[in-house]
Amino acid sequence: MTRRRRIYEGKAKVLFEGPEPGTLVQYFKDDATAFNGEKKSTITGKGVLNNRISEHLMTKLSNIGIQNHFIRRLNMREQLIKEVEIIPVEVIVRNVAAGSICTRLGITEGTPLPRTIIEYCFKSDELNDPIVSEEHITAFGWATPQELDEIMTQSLRVNDFLSGLFCGIGIKLIDFKLEFGRIYEDDEIQVILADEISPDNCRLWDIKTNEKLDKDRFRRDLGGVEDAYQEVARRLGILPEGGPGDLKGPTAIQ
Ligand code: TMP
Repeated sequence: MTRRRRIYEGKAKVLFEGPEPGTLVQYFKDDATAFNGEKKSTITGKGVLNNRISEHLMTKLSNIGIQNHFIRRLNMREQLIKEVEIIPVEVIVRNVAAGSICTRLGITEGTPLPRTIIEYCFKSDELNDPIVSEEHITAFGWATPQELDEIMTQSLRVNDFLSGLFCGIGIKLIDFKLEFGRIYEDDEIQVILADEISPDNCRLWDIKTNEKLDKDRFRRDLGGVEDAYQEVARRLGILPEGGPGDLKGPTAIQ
């Protein structure tokens, strides 16, 4: 088998050179980290589930005209994506207070927010992804005001769509994190959705019980992490072909 060139390794994913210019292969690892990499573990089958879940959600978003980097799934752990120039900003969309907004602003977890709130963090492991304002983003040139407008519009559309989709399967979309990137197509620079959408970067609570079905189970040592990710995939109707017993999948070709 040919060895692909490794372009970038993140905490949960590896990017390899793709088969054609302008493409990459995104490989989903089972590694999980929290608190900027301080806490580390492996969640068996997480990579396989996140690959499927992200494929499913990105495809649905594409179907409603939200452009994103996903091209097609290649196998259990890999998907072909468009190469983008990642904008170094994490976009956090919040519907209900949870996580860092609670500690930062003294809000009780589970409190519905008066309206959807968007926050931005500067992507920097060294600085622990500090929260920043639109002013920082445009003044330091991480994104232009036009790009930022586009990012906010797209993020709110993603929120509307995913909130409805999850609601339909008995899940409340509490908050999530998105990343965007620039792509040069048809002599134009466009900003499109990138990275992944999975229980690693969303908070998903069961509508009836408020049971957490996301990475907070790992962050907070609640146990049942694999089961929670599987439950999300099951409700979305996309558990891998072999069922839960087949979640290990192949390892990375390096
Ligand atoms: P926070 O409440 O910890 O700021 O997280 C908000 C949302 O962003 C939550 O759904 C988890 C997600 N998130 C990431 O995807 N990556 C991160 O590094 C952090 C801190 C949060």
